[in-house]
This record gives sequence, C-alpha cells and structure tokens, in this order.
Amino acid sequence: MADIREVKHLPAKYYKDILSTVAKERKPSPIRSFLPLEKTPGVISLLFGKPNASTFPFTSLSFSARSPADPTHESTLTIDGAELEAGLQYGDTAGFKPLLDWIFGLQEAFHGRRRGEGWRISMGSGSQDLIYKAVNAMVNPGDSVLIESPVYAGVIPMFHALHCNQIGIFPTIFLPPCFLNLLSTLFLLNRGGNGCARHSLLLFALHPRTVAYGQAETKSSVHRSLWDFIILEDDPYFYLYYGKEPRYPSYFTLELEEPEVGRVLRFDSLSKILSAGIRIGFASGPEALLNAIDQHTATSNLQTSSLTQAIAYKLLDSWGYEGFKTHTERVSEFYRQKRDVFENAMKKHLTGLAEWSSPEAGMFFWLKLLLSDNQGEGEGDSEIAIKTKAFEKGVLALPGTHFLPNGRATPYVRASFSTTGEEDVDRAVRRLREAILEARAEGAILEH
Ligand SMILES: Cc1ncc(COP(=O)(O)O)c(C=O)c1O
Repeated sequence: MADIREVKHLPAKYYKDILSTVAKERKPSPIRSFLPLEKTPGVISLLFGKPNASTFPFTSLSFSARSPADPTHESTLTIDGAELEAGLQYGDTAGFKPLLDWIFGLQEAFHGRRRGEGWRISMGSGSQDLIYKAVNAMVNPGDSVLIESPVYAGVIPMFHALHCNQIGIFPTIFLPPCFLNLLSTLFLLNRGGNGCARHSLLLFALHPRTVAYGQAETKSSVHRSLWDFIILEDDPYFYLYYGKEPRYPSYFTLELEEPEVGRVLRFDSLSKILSAGIRIGFASGPEALLNAIDQHTATSNLQTSSLTQAIAYKLLDSWGYEGFKTHTERVSEFYRQKRDVFENAMKKHLTGLAEWSSPEAGMFFWLKLLLSDNQGEGEGDSEIAIKTKAFEKGVLALPGTHFLPNGRATPYVRASFSTTGEEDVDRAVRRLREAILEARAEGAILEH
C-alpha cells in the first residue's frame, strides 16, 4: 500500500513580503502567458510567432552515448518526428514537459519530495541563470543576506550589485544552535528597527562536504531558527559525493521535518554530470518563487533551449533512474580518485607549508597556506603568493578572498583537481611549493 502522508505548505500570501519590488512590478509577458492555452483540445491557435517547423533544415538528430552500466559500450539515440519538432520549436517557459516530469521523479528519489506537495520545478540555462533570477526575485537593494562561506564566487557579484549587506557564516549544520538563534533574532530586530515589513531573511547555502571543514561533526537535523530564513540551496555537486558515510540530506529534504514546507529553493545542475555546455540547471521550490523566476525568464531569454532539453531528456529517459544513479556513482568515483592523486602530491610537496582536509564531494581542495611560522588563526593572505608568484612559476589557482562575501584577506586557496593529469598534478603542486617558499622567505625578511 502506498504510504500516505500529508505535507502542508506555506500559503501563497506568505511570499508577498518575500518577493522583491522588481519581481512584484514585473508584469507577465503578454504572449507567453497565453502559451499554455494552446494546449486546450480543439483550439486553433493564431497566437504565436512560431516559425513553421517544416521550413527548418533538421530532419533528425542522432548522438551516441556511453552506457552507464558499461562505459565501453555505446548506443545511438535518435530524436525525430514530434520529439524533434518540439526540440526545434519555442516551448514552455518553465521547461520541456517530458524533462520536467523526469526531474520530478528524480527529486522524489533523491530528496523524498513528491509531486503535488506544494512545490514545482523550472529549468534554466544552467543553475547560474536560475540563481541570478532567484536573487533578483527576492533581494531588494541594501537587503541583508546570510552567506555560507566560502561561497561559490559566481554569486558574490549578484549581491554586490544590489549593495547587499553580506554576512558570511559557517555552514549552518556546523553552527551551534545558539549562534543561529542569535543571528535570526538580530535579523528580526534589524528589520523591526528599519520599520521594514519584508521578512525575506535569505540564506545562501552551499552543500556541505564540498568544502571539508576539518573534523567538525555534522548533525542529522537542523535547529529551528534556520527556518526563519528562506534558504537558497546551491548544490551542483550533489551527485559528485564520494564520502564513506551516507550523504548528508539536502535542506530540501530536511524541511519535510517542519510543520510546513516552502522555505527552500534548491538549485541543481546537469553541468557536472552530463555536460556543462548543454546549459541545463533546475530550480525546485515553492510555486510563488518559481512563478517570479519564470516571469523573469519570460521577459529575458524566453526559455531554456528546447533542443538541449530534448537531448538531455532522450538520454536520461533511456537510462532511467537506476542508470542515472550508476552513471553518477561512476563520475563520483572518478573524482574520488582524482582527489587522492592530488592529495598524495600535496603530502609529498606541501607538508608543513599548507594544511587541508579531504573533501568528500566535488572537485576542489581548499588549502590553507602557512605563509609564516608564526601564523595565527585566520592570518595571512594567499593573494600575492597565488596570483603573482604561483602564476610566474606556471600554476594557476584561485585565492580564497574571491570566495568570501566581504572579500577579506585569507590564507586559503582553492585548487581544482578535475582536469589535470597525474604528471601535471605533481608539477603544479611542486610549483605551488616554490611559490609558498618564496612568499615565506620574503615574509621572514619583512619580519626582521
Ligand atoms: C557552486 C556552484 N554553483 C553554481 C554553478 C553554476 O553552474 P551551472 O550554471 O553550470 O549550472 C557553479 C559552477 O561552477 C558552481 O560551482
């Protein structure tokens, strides 16, 4: 027997104060808002400036793909007929229906969220597109936002452009409940002090485990105060998890433990598991927020490419959820091996010159450079050692300052182990060693 559960969700009026002024003032696109009516049976549509597909030169599209179960085996998939026509034509703003349906099933399988329980999905041209539109839909100039740090550097310019008060914090799962409580109270007081009715307390969250935060213990549930916030959960590395323990549940899953859902807007991406160039990401969350995102899409790029969505769907549908799981497990294992190669090179060349913890997901190491023997907690700046010295020696990495909301000095550096071959890893880490040694020597001279 199917298990029966009742999931309550926040009412539409809850989001009235959460939407930004821009989102509230954006009028629906006159043409796009009529588009769903075309599907009414028996209706003849004279509505849309759709080009006549019979004039398009494409007659079929075939591609070959590796089998998830046996990557040495390839099969060819063909998109033609009505499928091709849909892929070549304008489509719904929220996304290509067959792909949306498939993703609903995926979110149920991996996050326990069922269709019809107060949430939906919109597709975007990568998750970046959706994150940008979500920030635009919820943040007014000057608003305060909590940001789990280090954060994805690609979002900081969005908050900067809106002159936000960006408050960098440790991921909430590592924070003591009293700290979260205090933050939430401060936010609420600040709001009251401004005489401002909006209560969009935004928390921009990165999935834990992509950054290894030392030996901190993760908790299996989160503190009540977290749900004072609307959580933007940016999680493109969810399927690149290779830790030994079961994966930590997403905020999207955790909110099911609350009396009502509707505070999490989750961003997933196909970039790291199928192709980054295919430009497909998806947002899952409350209808009111996705409506605002869709209205932005309807007035900016109209929709995500129908063709790449049709290609992604053809592939995913041929795999099924089991095939998808097999594929992503293989991809994760690939990155785990890459991590180990990189870590071995660091143990060989950087012991005593840098500290790190092993990530359990994703493709990055976060190294803390030991730029001086007397370096205290939080001291030092990797910017010159990395941007200038390391580059001169022939290696590129990103100084940690670019991942901090306030851009302060930090001894951390982000190094990607995704694409570099074993020999180049060794060479790169040796060059990092030389750069750190040079920075330490110069620091020592200055100290005297
Ligand atoms: C943490 C994070 N979020 C979002 C993105 C954007 O990815 P995409 O737009 O390709 O889905 C990236 C890309 O590297 C990322 O690292």
